[in-house]
Amino acid sequence: MIKKCLFPVAGYGTRFLPATKSMPKEMLPIVNKPLVQYGVEEADQAGLSTIGFVTGRGKRAIADHFDISYELEAEIKGSGKESLLTSIRDLIENNDFSFTRQNHMKGLGHAILSGRNLMGDDPFAVVLADDLCVAAEDGEGVLAQMVKIYEQFRCSVVAIQEVPADQVHKYGVIAGEDMGNGLYRVTDMVEKPSQEDAPSNLAIIGRYILTPDIFDKIEKTEPGKNGEVQITDALMKQAQEGCVMAYKFRGKRFDCGSIEGFVEATNYVFENVYLKDQAEQAEQDQKKGSK
Ligand code: UTP
Repeated sequence: MIKKCLFPVAGYGTRFLPATKSMPKEMLPIVNKPLVQYGVEEADQAGLSTIGFVTGRGKRAIADHFDISYELEAEIKGSGKESLLTSIRDLIENNDFSFTRQNHMKGLGHAILSGRNLMGDDPFAVVLADDLCVAAEDGEGVLAQMVKIYEQFRCSVVAIQEVPADQVHKYGVIAGEDMGNGLYRVTDMVEKPSQEDAPSNLAIIGRYILTPDIFDKIEKTEPGKNGEVQITDALMKQAQEGCVMAYKFRGKRFDCGSIEGFVEATNYVFENVYLKDQAEQAEQDQKKGSK
């Protein structure tokens, strides 16, 4: 059973400057919740209750968010606002949180390697919180779907999505043997290819399940462009020596690392989640009132 989930949150979030000058990108709110909370809720739904964060300088707000704020709780106790803290309080009660630091921003592979002590020798999930994933129509989140794939194949799993050909240069792109039901056995993987060099339009998004041998493989990976250690290189070694599955998930994904994706996610969540929750709450309050 997978129980652990790693959140690399050390990046500078330069695309959101000046908003991210002193505030972590992962704390930017989509309507009324910070991005990272959506990611932790998805992990919680998948049964992953040991949560590790790889943070960096200026990211203390994330640790504070996943801790109790006694003054605030005391201040709003008994008022109508108490319920606004329910979602985060539930997460804090149900999960364990630990933190480590990535001292140099040397890319996603290096960030994951920095989380080695937190994840140990068990398979674990990785969530990039700036990819906001909304559950499929049946309510099953993307990580919960991926845990099932892991249980079937017992190897690393990456979430993929079809993207337009002119967007492939932003992603790791896979080639694979189509096994049906959205599953591919990975045969090739290229990080940020040009349109001409891309092996397909199946792009890896920010959800992974990794087997622990990934750490030794990352250690042996030479830094690439800009001195960054890519996770795709280590995954490709796993694919060559054993197996990596790519999974075309059910549900929606918003690239909240970009301004356009962030605005799109905000509009979607406001209309499809927030307003619905408000209406449900109002209905419940009305029923209580009429009793
Ligand atoms: P991004 O490249 O999208 O994030 O990395 P960034 O570097 O913060 O954003 P920009 O491009 O400057 O706007 C994806 C995820 O990986 C983490 C980031 O925090 C983000 O959640 N990351 C990236 C690290 O933790 N360490 C790194 O060295 C790189």
